[in-house]
Amino acid sequence: MKIWLNGGLHDLDSARVSVFDHGLTVGDGIFETVKAVAGRPFALTRHLDRLARSARGLGLPEPDLDEVRRACAAVLDANPMELGRLRITYTGGLSPLGSDRGDQGPTLVVALGETTRRPDSTAVITVPWTRNERGALTGLKTTSYAENVVALARATEQGATEALFPNTVGQLCEGTGSNVFVVLDGEIHTPPVSSGCLAGITRALAVEWTGAHETDLPLDVLDRADEVFLTSTLRDVQAVHRVDDRELPGAPGPVTTKAMRVFEERAADDLDP
Ligand SMILES: Cc1ncc(COP(=O)(O)O)c(C=O)c1O
Repeated sequence: MKIWLNGGLHDLDSARVSVFDHGLTVGDGIFETVKAVAGRPFALTRHLDRLARSARGLGLPEPDLDEVRRACAAVLDANPMELGRLRITYTGGLSPLGSDRGDQGPTLVVALGETTRRPDSTAVITVPWTRNERGALTGLKTTSYAENVVALARATEQGATEALFPNTVGQLCEGTGSNVFVVLDGEIHTPPVSSGCLAGITRALAVEWTGAHETDLPLDVLDRADEVFLTSTLRDVQAVHRVDDRELPGAPGPVTTKAMRVFEERAADDLDP
């Protein structure tokens, strides 16, 4: 396995960052996960735009997006695989031990892991912890993801693959690594970005391609939605067949099935939509 680290490719065993890297000590970093099919990244331009937005939001130096593109190409070339999870990580770099950032420059890592296609439907739980729609990090894809680690572990314990959060005012927000959609009276709805969710790239494409509405929804919409589905880079559009104790028999239902098909067709037409 070859990894890109700060300007060049390295063997996995020799790719090393400092134990004082601010990404490690305080979670001062941002990341992107990009799907790569047969060595070709999907929607890379949108991922790089969001990387730059997250960097600005954290006050990190503007990433050199040409270098990031070169790094992605080099890592994909060096590690051929059918379905890959390309991971771009960009941190505050070598820093003092507190929350103040050092001046040695950022750390850039691009790595790749092999993955398999997700099942067409899955189970989710809701968790009592909230997403903060008014925080300094709201909407940024930062490496401060420990809340997601805790929630996803709870989901795994309960036989689910995703945990859905409300925000601080009890509205449906998002999952640990996905956005959520519901079908009500044949129409598709998803929480607006103002709910505090990440502006998911799959979410944006799904809204564009299915005509889904961005609607403030209470968390308990999950008790009555006709269909529920998730979107994310590695899930694409994935139906939900159970929310907590509520079974949604027949998932994927007709509206979700159509959304899955439209997504697959449009994504196959254009690798960088
Ligand atoms: C918190 C969170 N919400 C939503 C998503 C889905 O975003 P995308 O479709 O860009 O993968 C992610 C990304 O994995 C995420 O980390």
